[in-house]
Formats: sequence, C-alpha cells, structure tokens
Amino acid sequence: MSGGMGGGVTDGGAIDGRGGAVGEPRAILALETSCDDTCAAVLDARGEARSNVISSQGVHDRYGGVVPEIASRHHLEIVNLVVEQALSEAEVTLDGIGLVAATQGPGLVGALLVGFSTAKALAAARELPFAAVDHLQGHVAANFIVPAPAGDGSGPRMDHGQGSQVDSGLRPDGRDRWDGRDGRDRWEGQNGRSDQPTQAFEPPFVCLIASGGHTLLTHVTDHEGFEVLGRTLDDAAGEAFDKGARMLGLGYPGGAALERLAADGDPDAFVFPGSHADRTRGGKGADRHAFARGLNFSFAGLKTALLYRLRELSEAETQARRADLAASYQGAIVDSLIVRAERGLEETGLDRLAIGGGVAANGELRRRLRALGATVHVPARELCTDNAAMIASAARFADPLGYPDYLGLDAYATGERPQ
Ligand code: KG4
Ligand code: ZN
Repeated sequence: MSGGMGGGVTDGGAIDGRGGAVGEPRAILALETSCDDTCAAVLDARGEARSNVISSQGVHDRYGGVVPEIASRHHLEIVNLVVEQALSEAEVTLDGIGLVAATQGPGLVGALLVGFSTAKALAAARELPFAAVDHLQGHVAANFIVPAPAGDGSGPRMDHGQGSQVDSGLRPDGRDRWDGRDGRDRWEGQNGRSDQPTQAFEPPFVCLIASGGHTLLTHVTDHEGFEVLGRTLDDAAGEAFDKGARMLGLGYPGGAALERLAADGDPDAFVFPGSHADRTRGGKGADRHAFARGLNFSFAGLKTALLYRLRELSEAETQARRADLAASYQGAIVDSLIVRAERGLEETGLDRLAIGGGVAANGELRRRLRALGATVHVPARELCTDNAAMIASAARFADPLGYPDYLGLDAYATGERPQ
C-alpha cells in the first residue's frame, strides 16, 4: 500500500496539534460491519480496548440465516449510534482519535460498505489516516489486544449496543463458559481465577479461526500477516453447527443450542465422517480424501451424513436419540478441528495455539484443546466473535493511507484484498 500518513498513532509520541492531550498518543477508532453485527471500538496506542460495542441485529433468526439486504439496512440505521457509543464509552471525542480503520472484506459487500464508507467519511472529515483491514487479519489480531487489568474498574465496558441480542447460551450448565475451573490447564495468562488471558499473545503461534463464516488454520509469524495452513473447502465449522442444529429442530444460530443438547448425549453413539472413530476404523472416514489428510477442512459430507441418519430413523427414534445425534455430530466437528490444529503445531514445530471465532466458545472444543499440551490462548468471548476491537488491533500494525489517498478504496466480498 502506498501513501503517507497524515497524523498517526505512535507509542508515547506527541500528537499533531489536532486535539487530545499533548504527549498522549491518540487512539484508533475502528468499524466492523462484514455480516450482521454493527461494531465500533476504540483501542488505545498500547493495544488496550477502551470500548468494544457490538450490536447484533437479531432479526435474521426467523429466516434461518443472515439476509444480506436486511443486514445492510440495519447497519445503516444504527452505525452512527454505535460509533457514538464507542467514543463515549472510551471517553474520547474524535479529537482524541489518530487513526480510523474499518473492515474492507471479506464479507457481505452491502454490509461491509456501510461501515467502510462511514469510517472513510469520519477519517476524511478530520483528514486522518485510514487503515483498510482484512477481516481474517482482524481475527488473528484479536490475540494482540492487551487485556484490561482485571478488577481495577478501568477496563473497557464490553457492553453491547442498542438492540443488542447476544448469543446467550454460554455453557450447557448456564455458567460463564469462559470460566476456567481446572487449575492444571495451561492457558496463557492463567491467573488461577479464570482462563481469561492477562496478556497479549505474541507471535509466533498457530491460529485456528472457526466461525459461522470461516474456518482457517494459520501460521502467525508477525503482527502484520499470516500464512494460511488450511481452510475449509466447503462449509465453515460454525455453519456445520448451525445446519446440524437446524436439522435437529434447534434455532438459528444453533451452535450453542446444539452444544447444550449434546451435553446429555453419547458422542460414540453414531459414527460421523471426520470423527476420530471414523478415521481410526479407516472406512468411510475423512482420511480417504487426500485433502483431509492435510490441513484443509471439509464439513459438507458430515452435514449430509446427519441428514441421511435422520431419514433412516423413525420420528420416535429421532426424538429418543436427539442428544446422541447432537453429541456425535459435535464430536465429529471438534475432532476435525482438533486433528488439524495438532497437525498445524507439528508442521510448524510450535507449541503455541490461539483460537478465535464463535465456535471457540464450544466447551468440548476447549476441553480437547487443553489435552493437546500446547499453550492455548483464547481471547475473551467478545474479542473472539466479530467485533471492531480486533479490526483496530490489526490497524495498529498496519501501514495506513494518508488523507485523501483512501477515498477511492472499495470493499471486497470474497478472496484476498486487491493490491
Ligand atoms: O464469530 P461468530 O460470532 O460470527 C461469524 O460467523 O462471523 O460465529 C458464530 C458461529 C455460529 O455459527 C454459531 O453457531 C457458532 O459460532 N457458535 C458455536 C457456539 N457458540 C456459537 N458453535 C459451537 N458451540 C458453541 N457453543
Ligand atoms: Zn468473523
């Protein structure tokens, strides 16, 4: 990317005369609207989130998936409010902002355009530099966010914005799923009270991102980029959870509900493709496919297998065995993720693993990750799912464009960022 920086965010550097306290580095304001969450956040120059507003639209459930046009309209209605809330919770005005950033892609292009154009306009109005951020780089950069010191009351208020409807089912038992309760776990930053990290996670590490939109295994060697080790060849892991949940009569998004149902089931009751049982019996397992021996993922066959299972069972049998079906299905998804995370660690020779995306909330996945023996870093939940603090974190290490060089930038729906 070319173009010089006008202003900027430097550690400890004085600001350039456009507001904020002299000598105080200015903060980053970021927007993220790639799907159905309208997000804005302020990150300080040290990498600590001062606010992280996530407004989930909650209107797509009845359609069983996100409706792009509805998502765009909702973003448009509330984006300004969400930005205002992010600034006010961070106790800054635009005068205290040194860099504006937004997700450029991939995502729903109409939805992306709302946040991207709003951010460019905010930057242009102040002649601030602007950083266009790749959404997946954002998920990786969630690991670089410095957690606020616990309990001193000075951390960011991770509130959810207007109209917020946040995925509620935390753990199957209703407890906060991010609570660590096993003192032997080797979670990064383990402080004996919880598995919330207490420090940023520094490269190198392997990062597994599993959400409703993407499933990606990456090798992160620095703050600026990553190497893709594997990606899904069809559905994303969260999508597999959602589609399975739908077939089992659970709502959308169904990952958390499926996990709750699975808690009462036997994961060995059914053998689904991709599961450990399937691979070891060497039959119809995912390993018969060359790609599944590597680091790529595939969940389409699993989804079809559940459909066929359900067709074979009578209505009464299905009802009686729903929990077993859910547990076995969940087990196959988790097995597929774990096996590739393990291979990624082997291949890179690393023993440090970060996870992100909504599926990182899954208790079974987290239990299995603990058993890998690597140092595992899981950012706080509101940093794992789509959010703007992670976009600000990526922007902190990016090479921004100065005003007005970014005005012609466009959002992109799929693939890599255009050069
Ligand atoms: O990252 P995210 O909030 O949004 C994007 O897709 O970008 O991820 C949402 C996905 C959904 O597919 C949802 O079903 C899944 O994460 N999810 C879970 C759990 N909680 C959310 N999947 C499995 N177990 C969970 N506890
Ligand atoms: Zn995402």
